[in-house]
Amino acid sequence: SNQFCDAGIGNHESTCGISPSSSSSKLLIKGGTVVNAHQQEIADVYVEDGVIVAVKPTIKVGDDVTLLDATGKYVMPGGIDPHTHLAMEFMGTETIDDFFSGQAAALAGGTTMHIDFVIPVNGSLVAGFEAYERKAKKSCMDYGFHMAITKWDESVSREMEIMVKEKGINSFKFFMAYKGSLMINDELLLQGLKRCKSLGALAMVHAENGDAVFEGQKRMIELGITGPEGHALSRPAVLEGEATARAIRLARFVNTPLYIVHVMSIDAMEEISKARKSGQKVIGEPVVSGLVLDDSGLWDPDFITAAKYVMSPPIRESGHDKALQAALSTGVLQLVGTDHCVFNSTQKALGIDDFRKIPNGVNGIEERMHLVWDTMVESGQISVTDYVRITSTECARIFNLYPRKGAILTGSDADIIIFNPNSSFEISASSHHSRTDTNVFDGRKGKGKVEVTIVGGRVVWQDDELKVVPGSGKYIEMPPFSYLFNGIDKSDAKYLSSLRAPVRRFNSAS
Ligand code: URP
Ligand code: ZN
Ligand code: ZN
Repeated sequence: SNQFCDAGIGNHESTCGISPSSSSSKLLIKGGTVVNAHQQEIADVYVEDGVIVAVKPTIKVGDDVTLLDATGKYVMPGGIDPHTHLAMEFMGTETIDDFFSGQAAALAGGTTMHIDFVIPVNGSLVAGFEAYERKAKKSCMDYGFHMAITKWDESVSREMEIMVKEKGINSFKFFMAYKGSLMINDELLLQGLKRCKSLGALAMVHAENGDAVFEGQKRMIELGITGPEGHALSRPAVLEGEATARAIRLARFVNTPLYIVHVMSIDAMEEISKARKSGQKVIGEPVVSGLVLDDSGLWDPDFITAAKYVMSPPIRESGHDKALQAALSTGVLQLVGTDHCVFNSTQKALGIDDFRKIPNGVNGIEERMHLVWDTMVESGQISVTDYVRITSTECARIFNLYPRKGAILTGSDADIIIFNPNSSFEISASSHHSRTDTNVFDGRKGKGKVEVTIVGGRVVWQDDELKVVPGSGKYIEMPPFSYLFNGIDKSDAKYLSSLRAPVRRFNSAS
């Protein structure tokens, strides 16, 4: 089914029959409705050498320019996926989409940049970064990195500074779950939050109470529940709510912004809502699986079918999905990720006798743009400008990439999609571009279709055909102190002065 093959196996052109894009470095997208998060207008978009040079009505150009007619269609910033795991070693295996196949899938679905999580190597952030630099060499679209923090000592603290000041990383993820592997305790989380604050880096958390999950897993095994449904039963939403609340309170204590990844439950969402109402800077990221699926698949009698839905936090009972959509539409949650972290059926079968051994993760990098459109815009819950905000612009703002990314403005990178709202999409494991052999959204249909994807000024997806170029993607450095840090110094100063005055005087004992 795949219309591309892997990089690095000889000459890409001759072995795969896929030629690099032949379009010129000059493009004119004519007559579409150009949508940014702040406005939409009918305009032409002119691109040269990978950059948007002009956005205005009726641009005239010479014969050397490739024309794309977007009449009746939306011209939008390519999606930015804030949460992926390509070629990640995890749970005794490695995710099957690497930086080429995962990105090719992304481009076929209208996503033109992603931010992946670097996992340290033997506790070293520098070694982890170097390993991911190597993995990402075959990239066919731009990407950035977050860094996971899985232990704490002086060297980790020092390396965090190197990552921020020299390597272009401005966010660190702390896992409050995965006891015995990635999990950190509150003491480490506090140290990490303090360090993030001093570096202007955004702290991110996987919020589940890992100790309680461990207990819940034991409980299921004792009851003889070893199938995939045991995964969901062992880590209920209350444990996600607890950890979300704890992380939020610790971030408040430290007075630093916090980003909650993969918000899967009402419990977690309500904690975020409460914190934001109180003025705290907390960002909530739902993922497309949590927005459109419920847990019923985990009870499928076929193990492989059920196991494909295993991710953490788990996909919840029906009702959480709709509540997360509503929270997204009202601004309680701000942007949509995927947590694309795929394992094929053979890898999922590692847990055939014990759900604790099923590698955790689902797909979404190719499906996010279509499913969010259908679920949120087509249903009438949000506007087209809001769609651009939650799939692209807000991610660029949070990770300090705006307006280079996340916008169709003069000077922005030419990462653009042409979206036809009158066409339709259908998802199938047999036609998707990921390397995995299953798809948690298999069979889903909806309105709207990404007809053209332009990345770095090149047309890479058109007429259902991919023309991707391994090695053409760039690493994008993300500077610290995003807008979320505005005002932190002032609120710190206010807090300190409230401690000093009034100065208490005690009567002397004599
Ligand atoms: O199940 C998941 N989410 N797998 C990826 C690792 C993570 O926790 O994000
Ligand atoms: Zn996670
Ligand atoms: Zn993840």
